[in-house]
Amino acid sequence: MLILGIESSCDETGVALVQSSGAPVPTLLSHALYSQIEMHQAYGGVVPELASRDHIRRVLPLTTQVMQEAGKSLQDVDVVAYTRGPGLAGALLVGAGVACALGAALGKPVLGVHHLEGHLLSPFLSADPPEFPFVALLVSGGHTQLMRVDGVGRYDILGETIDDAAGEAFDKSAKLMGLGYPGGPALSRLAEQGDGTAFKLPRPLLHSGNLDFSFAGLKTAVLTQAQRLGEQLEARKADLAASTQAAIVEVLVKKSLAALDQTGMKRLVVAGGVGANRHLREQLNAQCAKRKVRVHYPELHLCTDNGAMIAMAAAMRLQAGMQEASRAYTFEVKPRWPLDAISQSV
Ligand code: KG4
Ligand code: ZN
Repeated sequence: MLILGIESSCDETGVALVQSSGAPVPTLLSHALYSQIEMHQAYGGVVPELASRDHIRRVLPLTTQVMQEAGKSLQDVDVVAYTRGPGLAGALLVGAGVACALGAALGKPVLGVHHLEGHLLSPFLSADPPEFPFVALLVSGGHTQLMRVDGVGRYDILGETIDDAAGEAFDKSAKLMGLGYPGGPALSRLAEQGDGTAFKLPRPLLHSGNLDFSFAGLKTAVLTQAQRLGEQLEARKADLAASTQAAIVEVLVKKSLAALDQTGMKRLVVAGGVGANRHLREQLNAQCAKRKVRVHYPELHLCTDNGAMIAMAAAMRLQAGMQEASRAYTFEVKPRWPLDAISQSV
């Protein structure tokens, strides 16, 4: 079965083809991505209307590209999958509209995918895919969650952020240090040259006794520190970046270890854009090696938004019998859509 996946929830247009042939893990045949980062950079963040318009421009050329690269034609596609939510409403509508139009024209069914389920299952696209069950740390621009994952569609949330997401903490701290958008990669690059112990920044909810996160206070602490530095900020920016990163990463690592202790699991899966962070990977690898816990990550280029994870999530849902593709080509996107809503919990 050949599944075409279309991602358009935010500032990346992604299209991919995945083959599902009864093997435990479907295979990725081709994928193509267009990042709008440069376009939004001038505004210091994503401009939703510009994002939607650009998705319209990119989605069909990218589709042609993935078909060519896989040596397939559109008629070979069995299911057209798209991101139904969460994300920017206008951006989501582009992917949903194109997917449903393609499905109707080809006479093939369509399937709306949850963006976070895409991130969560993206490590299955790597050369060393995980096995169920596992603890998942989902860290993206809009979400920070620890989950117990027992199978496709079987997700129990163990803890989540009560305010800002980890990616947002990176982005907002980077912005007030004048590092531009997207802040995560910029801040982590600068942090490589700094000392992570230079400034004492709060580790919110570190000892809360539960698995929830809070990052809003950290951003305020970074702002206060930057103001205190005044003219010295420029010279100490790398230290401040490294200290900010160290605070975020320490909380993510300690809470992940607590989730592993709580569930007794020996496998951790990290997904979402912040999963690309090198310091986070180093710290998790070191701590998990000590406890004989295996950690799985998506390939670096598949940590941030892409079409491959959407095609993969659709393939795995279909294979697990969790969902059927539909020939009703009406669509409704879900800008806000908690992952629990699609979970058939244990
Ligand atoms: O998963 P994603 O592409 O989009 C959402 O679904 O939100 O995640 C984007 C987030 C942004 O906040 C970005 O700054 C962050 O991931 N990010 C990073 C790194 N690469 C991307 N944060 C820290 N270090 C990185 N290397
Ligand atoms: Zn995402």
